[in-house]
Amino acid sequence: MHKLRIGVLASGRGSNFQALIDGSKNGEVACDIAVLITDNPNAQAIERAKKANIPVEVVNFKEFQNRELADRKISELLRQYGVEFVVLAGYMRILRGKEIFEQFKNKIINIHPSILPQFKGSMNAQKDAFDAGLKESGLTIHFVTEDLDGGKMIYQEKVDISDCKSADEVAAKILVREHAAMKKVVDGFAKGKYI
Ligand code: GRF
Repeated sequence: MHKLRIGVLASGRGSNFQALIDGSKNGEVACDIAVLITDNPNAQAIERAKKANIPVEVVNFKEFQNRELADRKISELLRQYGVEFVVLAGYMRILRGKEIFEQFKNKIINIHPSILPQFKGSMNAQKDAFDAGLKESGLTIHFVTEDLDGGKMIYQEKVDISDCKSADEVAAKILVREHAAMKKVVDGFAKGKYI
């Protein structure tokens, strides 16, 4: 069976990345992770990659004249590693490179901790949900396009947050579902489900 060769972009903790590492190892997700690309030299995701013997590429935006050039470097790396499909898993930058969208049309996905379009573009969607006193929030996996958090939805799941007593509790409750959804959706792509 064909294993989807994915590249993961992550900026921080990398727990969704870890879910993919685990899923690819235990056969839950039919993918091989070709590379982790990060903009943050201190990302915890780097340690996770190293433990799993996944190559790491740090694209330090400070070393580039502008963001477009940094994005071009990311495109080059994805090509170099033979990546077929790109997963943004807590990647905190906006992709702007024209090349990347041409190269991976309908092949870049992102996970967002709200039911989009609610809290579109927010960096704190879980806190937004808590502060708004919502009883329900959730997660969305969508295609990445030039419109931030605006690409076509692929998967949404509602999460009951009525029992949560803090924004952190909301985040933790959604995160557990994010990991399961991430594995399910990437495996779906590997099996041609969404194409
Ligand atoms: C997740 O909540 C994800 O939805 C959002 O950023 C967070 C990343 O967490 N885009 P992690 O780095 O995967 O642990």
